This record gives sequence, C-alpha cells and structure tokens, in this order.
Amino acid sequence: MATPTLDKVEAESAASPYITVTLRIRRFNPEVSDEAQWQDFRIEIDPKERVLDALHKVKWDIDGTLTFRRSCAHGICGSDAMRINGKNRLACKTLIKDVNPEKPITVEAIKGLTVLKDLVVDMDPFFQAYRDVMPFLITKGNEPTRERLQSPEDRERFDDTTKCILCAACTSSCPVFWNDGQYFGPAAIVNAHRFIFDSRDEGGEQRLEILNDRDGVWRCRTTFNCTDACPRGIEVTKAIQEVKRALITRRF
Ligand code: SF4
Ligand code: FES
Repeated sequence: MATPTLDKVEAESAASPYITVTLRIRRFNPEVSDEAQWQDFRIEIDPKERVLDALHKVKWDIDGTLTFRRSCAHGICGSDAMRINGKNRLACKTLIKDVNPEKPITVEAIKGLTVLKDLVVDMDPFFQAYRDVMPFLITKGNEPTRERLQSPEDRERFDDTTKCILCAACTSSCPVFWNDGQYFGPAAIVNAHRFIFDSRDEGGEQRLEILNDRDGVWRCRTTFNCTDACPRGIEVTKAIQEVKRALITRRF
C-alpha cells in the first residue's frame, strides 16, 4: 500500500471539521456528595453538531454516569431543556458553533426545580401546575355527532400557545418561580391560554378563577425571560398579558 505523502496528510487534517471543545458540566450525585461541582470534559466534535451530541460523546465514550434526559433529539419532546452558557435552551436544538466553542461551554440543570442528578430535575411541581389549569377541552351538553366546528379566525386566536412542548425552559427562567416555586409559572399559563381562548371550550371562567389565585398570573413581573427562553418561539409574556386582560374584562 502506498504511504500517504506529508502534503496529503496535512491537507486531510486541514479539511477535518473537528475541533476540540471543553464541556464544563455541573455534576450532582446525592449518593456521593451534598454539593454540586463543575467537571470539565475535552471532546473532539464537529461544530455543526449539537450540544446533545457533545453530551452523548461524554456519556458514551468518557463517563457513563453522566445523567440527562432526552428522547426525540429533534425539538419535539421537550425533555432536554438545560442551562447552556447560562441560558435555557434545548440541547438538541443548540449547535456547538453557536455557543462560543473557543471557551468552555457550561452546561447545568434548569433552575427552580430540585436537581435529582446531574442535569435531571424533579419535574413533578411543573406538571402539577400544568394539571391544575385543566389542560383539556371542557364542554357541556351532548357530544356532537360530528366534529366541533371552528372558524380559521377562531383557531388562529390560540394558535401560538398550541405549540408548547412542555420543556419548562420558560418556567425555569422566571425569577418569580426561582424565588417561590408556588407560582404557577409561564408554561401552565400558556397551556391555560390555549383553552381559555378556544371558542369550543366552556371552562374558561373556571380556569381564569384558578389563575386569579395569589400564586396565579398576577405574580408575573413581565421580565420577558420566558419569551426569550422558549425554543418554540411562543410569545409567552404576551399570552400571560392576554390572560390578565381576560381576568379584568371577562372577555375571551
Ligand atoms: S411555553 Fe415554550 S418554553 Fe414554556 S414549556 Fe412551552 S415550549 Fe417550553
Ligand atoms: S430531545 Fe426531544 S426536544 Fe430535545
């Protein structure tokens, strides 16, 4: 077999898309220590790959104890929200090249929910708030024999809030939620909005009363963190404002 020339080796090396990056991950294992600590991992990766791919490299090739959630890997299931360089994002939607790979890329669990291990938090309070706003169609009377009709204009009224994937990036970026986990949080309000403004639904008054609670919409301080954090581009703060307005006017 012919030995590759030095020129050829150099050319191939110059064409390699791989770079070396440092992932700085906040580790926590309650079976080992009460304290979380940062741990650095150096990996080779194509900058067009995602932070989720980098986490997989660490878990599969370096340290199998690293714990994080993911499922679809395509921005649909909402399971891999985490703080990347101090900002809530989905690891599967964040490219390495977009998070300044020349410096260590910090990865930690989302805030405001109890960390169970590494990047995994206890989502129970988040989903309890979601359940509390009754995220399902409420109607009275007999079932229609055919589908419940709705005009395109009426459907458009709540289209934005149907896009939620329950990732918790909004709720866990909210300073009110950090200070007091009793607040329903943006995601629950977004999902209440989705039904309050649905012309087929008849449970709007009930949901508004639930959100009129001391831990409801009035706790929102309009910081817009939630809107910035939402990977689906939902206008979260606007939805919260619309629910507040509906509470005042009782028109929705
Ligand atoms: S509103 Fe956006 S950030 Fe909040 S849970 Fe839904 S998809 Fe995630
Ligand atoms: S793994 Fe499903 S949204 Fe990222």
